[in-house]
Amino acid sequence: MCRPIHIDALASYWHRLCDPALDENLLWLRVGSTSEKLLYLESGWGQGDILELPLHVGIIILHPLRLEILAYLDRLLCKPVETSLQNSLTTASPERKAHLSTVINLGQKMADFNLEKKYQEQEETFFDDGREIELLHFIYSNPDIETIRNSPTKVLAAIDNFARTKKYLMNVGEDKGRIVADLIAEVKPEVMVELGGYIGYSCVLFGDAVRKAGGKRYFSLERNPEFAAVIASLVDLAGLSDIVKVIVGSSDVSIKRLHASGDLKHIDLMFLDHYKPAYTTDLKLCEELGLITPSTVLAADNVIAPGNPPYLEYVRSSVEQKKRATKFGGTVNGVDSRFADKTANQYLKREGKAQLDETRVGNPLLIYESKLVNSFEPSGVPDGIEITRCVGVETS
Ligand SMILES: C[S@@+](CC[C@H](N)C(=O)[O-])C[C@H]1O[C@@H](n2cnc3c(N)ncnc32)[C@H](O)[C@@H]1O
Repeated sequence: MCRPIHIDALASYWHRLCDPALDENLLWLRVGSTSEKLLYLESGWGQGDILELPLHVGIIILHPLRLEILAYLDRLLCKPVETSLQNSLTTASPERKAHLSTVINLGQKMADFNLEKKYQEQEETFFDDGREIELLHFIYSNPDIETIRNSPTKVLAAIDNFARTKKYLMNVGEDKGRIVADLIAEVKPEVMVELGGYIGYSCVLFGDAVRKAGGKRYFSLERNPEFAAVIASLVDLAGLSDIVKVIVGSSDVSIKRLHASGDLKHIDLMFLDHYKPAYTTDLKLCEELGLITPSTVLAADNVIAPGNPPYLEYVRSSVEQKKRATKFGGTVNGVDSRFADKTANQYLKREGKAQLDETRVGNPLLIYESKLVNSFEPSGVPDGIEITRCVGVETS
């Protein structure tokens, strides 16, 4: 069964896709749980066109070059043009081939998401509306609470259960969480820092992994005191209070204080998952304080959804490029204008306008090797973790 959809219905997303610098645009169509097939439409369509798409089709719009997902429209109905990416590969230019291969890999990975594990849909207001305290009541009223106590795995299962059956939670989730947990087992950090703790999902998962790997301290930096209290409660329930320290306050202020007090002398592994525009400014702050040295590893969440072009640009730059770099032209209240308003204003209601020091230069002499690991949000939306290793420092 098909339903025609006027292309103008996609206008708001389409406008965001249109980039005069690009001569092509891709629209991805993910056929829902029934067939898990990926199809795509290539350019050549615009205002006034009518598409007919089968029922149960979800749409993911990708920025063709930066692979950013601009929108995920569940249940928008259209009909795909039957052209395969593989066919395009045979005639494509080398640059386009490389791009399409990445898209194909991403597409194949998308089919791997287990829909049974999917979190509830993300609503317009999806945090800071009382659900974090609701989560505590949900967990502590579980008749099996005594079997959950001191078990990080069971605490995580209880959080996932809430997010799957009650309300969405903005956790890193099982799939991306595994990538970082594996990284912890490999790096064996003595000291790990996370920026943005929310209700403690990543803190419990990674705090446990750090302890298992022989580490000493996991700092969870969370600005919202209510969320921090939830983290502390669940960390205690999981039996991780000996290794995890929850630090309440804005990440930059907390980093400076921990450094000044001598509690934080070096970061072995850092998980960045807080205010997206603050990833780069906080990394540069850590560099300036000498907390990042060769051997430090960074894992940055959400670099695909919602995306973080300034951060990716920075960690993928060579020393020469960093030295030459002039500040990106456009900022709005200190926030890089490449961020969508929704991302830039995510905490506006509670925290007011962001105050970011975009003039920080960091330590451009640090040499990074960086790569994207594709995965999924717990809602099934494709996302990725950028893993960056500091591998050296240039002497001049
Ligand atoms: C996506 S959530 C973190 C999820 C968590 N890492 C997990 O996977 O379980 C982002 C969190 O960062 C916090 N946050 C945002 N900006 C911050 C800042 N500048 N300093 C500290 N925390 C911040 C928010 O309050 C929110 O709880």
